[in-house]
Amino acid sequence: YHQSGVQQRVAPKKQHVWRCAATTEGRKAPKSQMLVFVPPHPLIKHWVSVLRNDFSPPPIFRSAMAELGRLLIYEASRDWLLTVSGEVNTPCGVADVEFIDPREPVKVVPILRAGLVLVEQAGCVLPASQTLHLGFVRNEETLQPEMYLNKLPEKFEEGARVLVADPMLATGGTIVAALEELTSRGVDVELIRVIAAVAAPPALKILSEKFPGLKVYVGIIDEGLNEKGYIVPGLGDAGDRSFGTL
Ligand code: URA
Repeated sequence: YHQSGVQQRVAPKKQHVWRCAATTEGRKAPKSQMLVFVPPHPLIKHWVSVLRNDFSPPPIFRSAMAELGRLLIYEASRDWLLTVSGEVNTPCGVADVEFIDPREPVKVVPILRAGLVLVEQAGCVLPASQTLHLGFVRNEETLQPEMYLNKLPEKFEEGARVLVADPMLATGGTIVAALEELTSRGVDVELIRVIAAVAAPPALKILSEKFPGLKVYVGIIDEGLNEKGYIVPGLGDAGDRSFGTL
């Protein structure tokens, strides 16, 4: 896909990346810190640039978001999923193998609307997963997120691994409300992974204060928010752009 409207720079500008507690090196940091990973992968950079581009129509935007989600889930699951050992017959002999235990599906929690698109490929990356939807809408009077859909169980079993998808971590109101729902239902914060396309410092600050031990995987970290709470430069309204809402 050729990106309309993209101006290629001859000498690439040095990218400004705001780092929270750590980058990919941060896996060795103490457990009590929140860690933010911006995986330095060229495909992640590519799909972020497609998402940012104002010319990308909804089908292109959606497929870029789904691809970005696939790569972020892959990165997030690296040191997180447990394997069990076994043995299989190959056509030529017997091999010791390790595989993901199908009895312990990852709980995938998309935050509606746009989170749905970010986890569209989760079933292709994770051999065993289960989707538990959460829907939030902003109350225009209080400006606080209000939950209108909650498919979480009353109590999660011990050791549950939960992947939360919220494409835009802006003020942090929605993601904090979602994580509070999870932790109040018994999920260990160290076993939660959050994936997002773009994050801004206010959201990362509040997450790091409220959820030490959390790991967040993002496509890019931007500089801040505008007066309407949108991330700048960001990519606009992720839900509207995914679904062509006018
Ligand atoms: N939600 C969005 O969709 N975009 C933003 O920039 C901030 C919140």
